[in-house]
Amino acid sequence: MSDKALIDRINKETDIVKLVSEFVSLEKRGKNYMGLCPFHDEKTPSFSVSPEKNLAVCMGCRKGGNPVTFLQLIKNVSYEDAIKELADRLGIEVKVENKKKDPNESLYNLMDEATAFYQYALKHTKKGQEAFQYLLDRGLTEEDINHFQIGFAPHADNLYKLLRSKGYPTTDMMKLGLVSQNEEGKYYDIFRSRVIFPIKDSLGRIVGFSGRTTKKTEPAKYINSTETPIFKKGELLYHLSDAKLHSVKQGFVVLNEGFFDVIQTFKAGLKSVVATMGTALTKNHAQQLKKITNHVVVVYDGDNAGIEATLKSIPILKDEKINVSVLHLKDKLDPDEYIKKNGYESYKSLFNDSLQDPYQFGYQIYLKDKDFKRSVDVETFKKQMSALLYKADPAIKKQYEADIYQKYHIQLNLGFVQYELPPKKSVQVNKRVITKAENAIDLILTDLLIHPKRLEQFVEKIGKDKLITSLQQKLASDIYKYYLTTNDDHVNLEYFYAMIDYPEALKIYLDKEVYKRKLKLSDNDFNHCLEAIEEYHQNYLQVETLMNELRTTNDEQRKQEIAQKILEIQKRGKV
Ligand code: UTP
Ligand code: MN
Repeated sequence: MSDKALIDRINKETDIVKLVSEFVSLEKRGKNYMGLCPFHDEKTPSFSVSPEKNLAVCMGCRKGGNPVTFLQLIKNVSYEDAIKELADRLGIEVKVENKKKDPNESLYNLMDEATAFYQYALKHTKKGQEAFQYLLDRGLTEEDINHFQIGFAPHADNLYKLLRSKGYPTTDMMKLGLVSQNEEGKYYDIFRSRVIFPIKDSLGRIVGFSGRTTKKTEPAKYINSTETPIFKKGELLYHLSDAKLHSVKQGFVVLNEGFFDVIQTFKAGLKSVVATMGTALTKNHAQQLKKITNHVVVVYDGDNAGIEATLKSIPILKDEKINVSVLHLKDKLDPDEYIKKNGYESYKSLFNDSLQDPYQFGYQIYLKDKDFKRSVDVETFKKQMSALLYKADPAIKKQYEADIYQKYHIQLNLGFVQYELPPKKSVQVNKRVITKAENAIDLILTDLLIHPKRLEQFVEKIGKDKLITSLQQKLASDIYKYYLTTNDDHVNLEYFYAMIDYPEALKIYLDKEVYKRKLKLSDNDFNHCLEAIEEYHQNYLQVETLMNELRTTNDEQRKQEIAQKILEIQKRGKV
């Protein structure tokens, strides 16, 4: 595959002008062609394409190269993928090394089969044609419908029957949330009488579906695939694998809430667009976005829920060092509705003249309903601004502090010390000593997961260095962060999961009886735990000192004494 002769041939035979023209509009200038550079912002063309040398390079930012490099850069794909695509276009066969077989391959095949079935049913059944008309009425063309592979799930159990006849195992259909079994043991389709949107993972494989009803009376507007081995909603962004192909050229990625928003934004020409599909943006989502862009434009619904979701997304995106802009749509419209009302051109122009700085956006929202003669408003405002600016540069925090002080005479301290992870303890203390304090910490952390209110008390008493395992350290730090960013008085697990990257490990806590039954530690027990942690810490320091002495002393009798002392301390720490 990385055979030099092959790559030379691909670079030589590819028509660079034709290739670049797919992404940049070019004008002939002498022997060469010029256009606006797709890799950086500019007003006068400096992207030069030379058919003679078969090179496309920007004179300004120097980005570009031969056809393979150009395609790799513009589409944000790997070198191998760029070679493969150009070879395909030229009809050159490329041997792909035997990749390890994906254990879920049969599941992906099944999803492809189901997609093809839904697409067929949309066009070739009577009910399907009504659904097709519904899509046309919502402003889609047949081309859009094909591009997004939209289909229709008929009312009867046709998918089950089809997949069965093709020999797919029923267990796989159930595993993928396509089929279920009723009390009499009969299998039935989960998606019925719904328009079907296939959802792809970051590699473009179909991993799930969302079905929209076309009836106004149906209570569930969309139903989605359940969590399956290949469908994890907190890790999926609708349209990501396609958005990736256009993110370099567009310079930013648009973040929407829903399917029709993405399709209409795409149709407006902003092809690098994804949706969170209604759920909260997760850390995992942000990490995936970071891979394809360093600028996200959040265009959620213009209603209150959309504004709230926008505000929550800002620290999550900032945490991945992504530049964020906010586009707020007036009159509570969502992008789909805005476009329907005002047209594509008006929508597009908002990206030139209505993008807002995320902190300014939040600041204005938070000021809106406040009366600083009311102390509770001052308190709320302080919390909200702290959360919003949690990830901001210290210079920005200072700016806001100054502005708020000058205008409203409220002294804000946004530069609070973050509750950072302490370094892992170096001294290995006997496991038995740890148990009691470890339990106490776990008990408190579980309690804080239910009622984060006592966090401030916890943080005040239990400093950075008193937590024992790295899981405890991470969890404490994240609950604290959660508390700062949301100020919720109970932890919303869905949102909390979004912030952390160790959901598996969290299970230990969620499986505890205390958590399951949502018991609250009494103040007495809570303090008791704090004391146990403190005691352990003191013991720990003492043991550490004794250990040091043990290592340095040559006095045999002293050695004995020390060992005895250590043993005693360890016993005291036992459960
Ligand atoms: P919205 O309620 O804003 O729906 O939810 P929408 O996108 O405007 O829907 P249309 O335009 O009326 O068809 C935004 C997104 O949240 C998810 C879907 O992905 C939806 O597009 N959602 C919404 C669900 O998963 N289930 C629901 O019941 C509703
Ligand atoms: Mn909406």
